[in-house]
Amino acid sequence: MERLLIRGGRPLEGEIRISGAKNAALPVMAATLLADGPMTVGNIPHLHDITTTMELLGRMGVELTVHERMQVEVDASTIKSFRAPYELVKTMRASILVLGPLLARFGRAEVSLPGGCAIGSRPVNLHVEGLRAMGAEITIEDGYIKGRAERLHGARLRMEVSTVTGTENLMMAAALARGTTVIENAAREPEVVDLARCLNGMGGRVEGAGTSTLVIEGVDRLHGIEYSVLPDRIETGTYLTAVAMCGGRVKVKDTQPALLEVVIDKLREAGAVVETGADWIELTMTGRPRAVSITTAPYPGFPTDMQAQFCALDAIGIGAGDVVEKVFENRFMHCLEMQRMGADIHIDGQTAHIRGVDRLTAAPVMATDLRASASLVLAGLVADGETRVDRIYHIDRGYECIEEKLAQLGADIRRLPE
Ligand code: UD1
Repeated sequence: MERLLIRGGRPLEGEIRISGAKNAALPVMAATLLADGPMTVGNIPHLHDITTTMELLGRMGVELTVHERMQVEVDASTIKSFRAPYELVKTMRASILVLGPLLARFGRAEVSLPGGCAIGSRPVNLHVEGLRAMGAEITIEDGYIKGRAERLHGARLRMEVSTVTGTENLMMAAALARGTTVIENAAREPEVVDLARCLNGMGGRVEGAGTSTLVIEGVDRLHGIEYSVLPDRIETGTYLTAVAMCGGRVKVKDTQPALLEVVIDKLREAGAVVETGADWIELTMTGRPRAVSITTAPYPGFPTDMQAQFCALDAIGIGAGDVVEKVFENRFMHCLEMQRMGADIHIDGQTAHIRGVDRLTAAPVMATDLRASASLVLAGLVADGETRVDRIYHIDRGYECIEEKLAQLGADIRRLPE
């Protein structure tokens, strides 16, 4: 298995470009199933999760052509299978995003249940309940969600918890349903807004994206368009946090500062000087950061996908910070690995009490999920000695060329082949 070797202690300087958002690209690629003509999706990041989605669509018989600079042309008219098999879904839970589009457009779908997950139980009950309320007949058999529908109809859906992919799945289904669907307590994440923009470009009628109530007027058909997904706010936040930990000055380009307000506020609280422009953010840091307290929440709160990176920051911060995880259960596995690098972290239920230490020391560590792996890379960048991060396939699911981007900023990091 490939691994990353990192020698800590170097400041970061320079400029990097932010990739398209994984969590926006995945639903938009699923939305191509709704179009009755070819569709081109641009600013797609080069990531394992994207390759998995392409494989999933390809196995269904959908035609995919990859153009220059990761523009992917998708033509769903050749579809002949409506199944998302376990071996793909188990590597990427977001495969569930094909369920709504398949039922809405083709009236049938078989999607494997995602199964256990390293960051808590993560059920998909709200996806299923919402589709049932829209008229789909759904059974759970042999580990698969099996659905049939004539034509879905509009419904009033009240989401018990705010779910990102749940909202996206139901929004896509509602776009082609007969009548009006109202989704209450809808997720407000920027990636949900991006999907709504894409659907509206395809001829859909989605209103209220970015608020907690979505009103979707179903249409008879959606057409293919060229669509470019928004930049990755989590990738952006991860590199900014790296600079706040290592010191130095870095400009991240091709991003959207407005999507990172709470993260930028916390980085300022940690002592960083942050300047923003229309599509860039520059962070300057001298000395050690101050530890900060955060509580994760659905957007516009502090993103759970930035929690692990802030644990790494607090681990070497001046003072102490409490990190409270409110979105997922069991999302502190990275803290156990950081403890092995000398971090002073005490976990009590959903809270990690972190007292900063002067220096971390290198250790072989293992990543358990995508953002956990990123946090271990950040810890490695400030640790004494050589840190080895194993199981980096998690990182490749969500960070495009992480070692190249960090090396470009002066970090001593390299990938070791198997
Ligand atoms: C998405 C993101 C992920 C991010 C998460 C929270 C994608 C591809 N992934 O994941 O990176 O960490 O949002 O911002 O966009 N829940 C239920 N029932 C359901 C669905 C969810 O109880 O049917 C609960 C979950 O257990 C969790 C909470 O809702 O506690 C939020 O999860 P959700 O927003 O659904 O996460 P994902 O969409 O899987």
